[in-house]
Amino acid sequence: MTTKLIKEGIYSVGVVDWNERHFHGYTYVTKRGVTYNAYLIIDEKITLIDTVREGFQKELIENIKNVVDPSKIDVIIINHIEPDHSGAFAQILKICPNAKVYGTEKARQGLLKYYGVCGDWVTVKSGQSLNIGKRTLDFIDVPMIHWPDSMFTYSAYDKTLFSNDGFGQHYATNKIFDDEVNFDVLMDESQKYYANILWPFNMLVSSKLAAIGKLSLDIKFIAPSHGLIWRKYIPEIMQKYLYWSSHSCKNRVAVVYETMWNSTEKMAKKIIEGITSEGVEAILFDVTKNDRTDISSYMLDAKGWVFGSSTHDGEMLPVIAGFLHFLKGSKAKGRKSFAFGSYGWSGEAVKDIEDTISNVTSFEPSLRVVYSPNQDELDKCFQVGKSFALKIKNE
Ligand code: FEO
Repeated sequence: MTTKLIKEGIYSVGVVDWNERHFHGYTYVTKRGVTYNAYLIIDEKITLIDTVREGFQKELIENIKNVVDPSKIDVIIINHIEPDHSGAFAQILKICPNAKVYGTEKARQGLLKYYGVCGDWVTVKSGQSLNIGKRTLDFIDVPMIHWPDSMFTYSAYDKTLFSNDGFGQHYATNKIFDDEVNFDVLMDESQKYYANILWPFNMLVSSKLAAIGKLSLDIKFIAPSHGLIWRKYIPEIMQKYLYWSSHSCKNRVAVVYETMWNSTEKMAKKIIEGITSEGVEAILFDVTKNDRTDISSYMLDAKGWVFGSSTHDGEMLPVIAGFLHFLKGSKAKGRKSFAFGSYGWSGEAVKDIEDTISNVTSFEPSLRVVYSPNQDELDKCFQVGKSFALKIKNE
C-alpha cells in the first residue's frame, strides 16, 4: 500500500502483507493476506495512529515521508499493542524525537514488556480527549477488542472512528474503501475475522457496542487497522457485530469429522443426508482438508455442531482434537451437538469429543459403529441426522 489520502488531512500510511498466510501463529489461515493499517493526520499537531508489524517499518516510514518529515510527528496514538500494530513502534520512536505517545495504562505496560520503551507517554482512558488543532480526538477504552489494552480513537471533526482490530478483515488489497471491493467477499472476510479474533469476547463486544451507541457518535467512516475502511456499509457491519456478539444462530449444521479408513466418513455422509432431508442447511467438513479458519467462520452462527472421529489408540484423531481445542475457546452458547465415529475395539473418541468441548455445547446421545457401518447402521446414521435436523428446526 502506498500513501493514500482518505479525506482532507488524513492519510493511510499502512502496509499490505500480500503473502501472509498464517496469522496468529498457525491459528488463522489468511488466504487473502493481511494489511496493517496506520493513519497519519495532518493538523496543528501531526498525529500518527498505530504503527505496523515488525519488518514493515521501512515501508511505513516511506509512506509517512510521502506526506511529512517523520521527525515532525507530535503525537503517536497506540490503540493496541499486539505486535501486528506495535512491531515498528520502537523504530518510529527513534525518528520522532518530539512525539508524545498516548494509550491506555495496559498499553504502556505492554510496550515496556515487549520493547523496553514507551516514549514520552501519556496514559488516557474513556472520556479523555486530545486537541490536535482543528480536531479533538476522543479516546474510548475497548478492552478485549482485542486485548486488555485496546482502545478506539474518534475524531468528531472527521466523523471517523479509528477502531484498530474492531471491524477489521484480513484482506490484502490496494483498495481503501469498503465499496471498492466485492461486498460478499468483504462480509465473508469480516465474518471469518470475527470468528477467529473476537468470538471469545462476545459479551464484551456486545456491551461495548451498547456503550458506544449511547455516546451517539456521528460516524461516517470506520477506519480499522486491518482491511478496508467502512464508509458505505457501516450499518451492515454494525448489524453483523450486534448479531455475532449476541450468539445468534441460524438453523444450519456443520458436520466436522476426521476419518482413518473412511468408515467415519461414510457415517458423516449419511448423517448429512438425513439432516438435509429435512430442509436444514448443512456442510460437511473433513477437518484434514479444510482450514479451521473457514470451518469456525461457518460455525460462528450455526446452531448445530456435529463431530465425528475414528478412535485411534484410545483417543480421537489428532487433527480434530486440535480443532476442538481451538473451538472450546470460543465461549459459544446455544448450540446443539452430537458425536459419532467408528472404532475397532474400545471406541473412546466420541466421549473424548464430548469431554473436550462440553463447555461450549450440549450433546445428544452419541453414535458409534464397529469397524465399518453396514446398511442398517447407515440407515441409523440417516435417521439420527434427520432427528437432529428436526430438533434444530423446532427447539
Ligand atoms: Fe491486529 Fe489484536 O491485533
